[in-house]
Amino acid sequence: MTEQPQSDFRHITVKPISGALGAEIGGVDLSKPLAPEVVAEIRRALVDNLVVFFRDQDLTPDQQKTFGRMFGDLHVNSFFPQVPGHEEVQLLLKEPQHKNNIGDRWHTDVSYTRRPALGSILYAKEVPPYGGDTMFANMYLAYEALSDGMKTVLRGLRAFHSARENFAKRAAEAELPGSASGGFQHSDDVEQEASHPVIRTHPESGRDALYVNSVFTKNFEGMTREESAPLLQYLFAHLSKPEFVCRFRWQPGSLAFWDNRCTQHFAINDYHGFRRHMNRVTLLGDAPFLTERADDPAHAVA
Ligand code: SIN
Repeated sequence: MTEQPQSDFRHITVKPISGALGAEIGGVDLSKPLAPEVVAEIRRALVDNLVVFFRDQDLTPDQQKTFGRMFGDLHVNSFFPQVPGHEEVQLLLKEPQHKNNIGDRWHTDVSYTRRPALGSILYAKEVPPYGGDTMFANMYLAYEALSDGMKTVLRGLRAFHSARENFAKRAAEAELPGSASGGFQHSDDVEQEASHPVIRTHPESGRDALYVNSVFTKNFEGMTREESAPLLQYLFAHLSKPEFVCRFRWQPGSLAFWDNRCTQHFAINDYHGFRRHMNRVTLLGDAPFLTERADDPAHAVA
């Protein structure tokens, strides 16, 4: 990647913000209907850069939903509070008196369902004067940096993802006055869990990415949590190495659109005493899969 705008786009400008992932897109007003060729270029920029950012947008919840629907169907999240009248728009709100925020561990969205989120679109309504940045990590690079031996092991594994502990804890915290953000709700969906390959193939780029995360991934299939923990802990530490990461500074009107199939993100909780108000829509995805390849490390040692 270079710091120059990527030049093969005709309708938008695309400027990478780090060597790992992330690009800022210019030349488009997301509140307006977008021509199919503009949508196609945004989609290509997303697949190439994994997370894309837009500045100075002025979006109502309806306009954010319309933008999201250009890329897929919208997910209704039963844990998060919703923007009134918009069940597909999650309200991520931290008030000055709140201590906790949402998303302050590395994770990918909704991995506890059989069809985890394709992408998420987060729009900043109000941001603190400093802090509240979001970090993103490139799961292709995290996979590619592993040794052939580790790749071989991981390509043979699946892992269980569960919402139970994280969201039950969050919902309980939300009932303590002043201790939590955003009013997490109890939901029967807390019982959802799913098994996914530990390495997944991205259906559009064809590249393989690491797909375990510290919030929802509990154990490898066929192993206990205790047996799984050492390798999972290693992977959770590995996947957020600085060279795999970018960091985004929000302004009011900024919008981030990330691909959950090949990234993780982390919302930094360093702005106590200030308000941060974000609206999020999430795109439904497909069941993760892993493509076997003739040049797999697994095949090479077989
Ligand atoms: C999240 O979607 O996990 C929250 C991200 C953020 O608020 O920056």
